This record gives sequence, structure tokens and C-alpha cells, in this order.
Amino acid sequence: MSDERTTAAHGAAGARAVGPDAPIGVFDSGIGGLTVVRELVRQLPAERIVYVGDTARVPYGPKSPETVRRYSHEIGGFLVDQGVKAVVIACNTATAHALQALRDELPVPVIGVVEPGARAAVAASPARRIGVLGTAGTIASGAYERAIRALAPDAMVMSRACPLFVPLVEEGWTEHEVTERVAEEYLEPVLAAGVDAVVLGCTHYPLLKGPIGRVLAGVRLIDSAEQTAAEVRCLLERERLLRAGDAPSHRFFATDAPAQMLRLGQRFLGSTIEEVETLPLA
Ligand code: DGL
Repeated sequence: MSDERTTAAHGAAGARAVGPDAPIGVFDSGIGGLTVVRELVRQLPAERIVYVGDTARVPYGPKSPETVRRYSHEIGGFLVDQGVKAVVIACNTATAHALQALRDELPVPVIGVVEPGARAAVAASPARRIGVLGTAGTIASGAYERAIRALAPDAMVMSRACPLFVPLVEEGWTEHEVTERVAEEYLEPVLAAGVDAVVLGCTHYPLLKGPIGRVLAGVRLIDSAEQTAAEVRCLLERERLLRAGDAPSHRFFATDAPAQMLRLGQRFLGSTIEEVETLPLA
């Protein structure tokens, strides 16, 4: 790509010269972050993407903040070594625990999913009564609550950890009666709190829009992937790093054997993954 458009992407750890042709790095604890890749591909079809799913160490949801930060640090370093122009943390739990650390240490801009999700939720909630669903780690961190209150200090925020949702999605039970039952159990207190918008604060929950939407009838469901991709576009425009040209090829890495990402990835990405490379970490 043209050198004159090469610019410096700044992170707290200094600047790194990258050009528009450099890929966007995206990572998640597993394959769920492919929902964010799907939205990036939809909104930014000319961008190249390098995706890492930490399938060997998923789930991050129940793990300590320190452990999630350590894993995120390793993957962030790998992505920078791949020459990415920005890092997108597609995992809500990793964003909650490691966004600031990665912003401090990586030489490229880092975008997480929590701030975009909070912004979309506030915009969708005239009553300022917002529900947040997430993993145990995300909810315990209070990250969404802080992000929402920073935008709307008077907002009522009702948070609920829904740890069984991730395995139900991985099992493919997105429209199963067991999932309906679990959704009722988790969500009835959220509904009773009178919320008008609910953030699906986990990579897997957008696949449960059916059962969640039936329990939370009339409530706006916020999928942060869409807003995150929009914010990545703004960042690249601002830094003059938007890539132009033909639809590119992407690279997918898994820290465990590729089979699972190859088999289940399409459910999250919406299209087939041809090849998954192995990234040995741990
Ligand atoms: N990717 C995680 C998240 O968005 C969900 C799966 C996990 O617990 O690792 O929080």
C-alpha cells in the first residue's frame, strides 16, 4: 500500500508505523468473537482481519482478572507481531479485565466491546433503565455499569450474570426448551426491574436473541458488535488507516486444535472458515 498514507498508530507504549494495508487484529476467548468479525466484515469489507480464538483456555468468564489479563497480554503481543494497525478485544470479559492494560502496553490503538455497547444501550433507553447480561467475570468487574454511568449518571443499571448461556450456545441449543427455561430463570428479575434496553454483554448472547427476546418482550436488545465495528471505522478514518480495494482474505488462529473453530465457526461468523492455523500458547 502507498507509503505516503502510512501513519503512526499511537498507544501508550509508543508509536508503530503501520499503513492502511495492515490487518485489524481481533481476539476472543474462543469462537464467540467471530460475531464481532462478522460485523467488521459487513461494515468494513475491504479490511484484512487476523483473528485469534483462545480455544485452549476458554472460558474466560469464570477466571480471575489477573489470569484474563495475562492471556490477553500474550495474544495482544502476538497480534502486534503480526503487524496489525489496531487491536479489537471482541471478548466482553477480556475487555472488562484487560482493556486498560492493553491500551497502556500495546503500540497500536485498542478497542473493546464494553464502551460501544454502553453507548448503544444509553441511546436505546429513553427511560434510562438498562439491563446488562454477561459472564460472571464481566458482571463482577462492574465495567458496563461504570461505562453506562459515565454516559448517563442517573441511569438505573440492573446486571445479571448468566453463566449457563455460553455452554448452551456451544451445544447449539439456541432454540431449545431447556434454554427457554434457563432464560426465564435468569431474566425474570431483569424484566421485573422495568428495563427498556438490555445489553447482550457476551459474545455468545446475540445467538440467543430468540429465547432472550421472548422473555424480555418489548425490551430493546443491544448487540455491541455493531457499535464496536462502527467505532473501529471511525478510528481508522481518523487515523487515515482505512483500507481500500478488493475483498481480502482473513487469517484465523486457534490456540487449541483447529477442528472446533472449523466446525462451529460458521454459526458465529455467518460464513465458512476455510483454514484455521494453530497458535500454541499456554
Ligand atoms: N467471550 C466471552 C465473553 O464475551 C464469553 C465466553 C467465555 O467465558 O470465555 O465474555
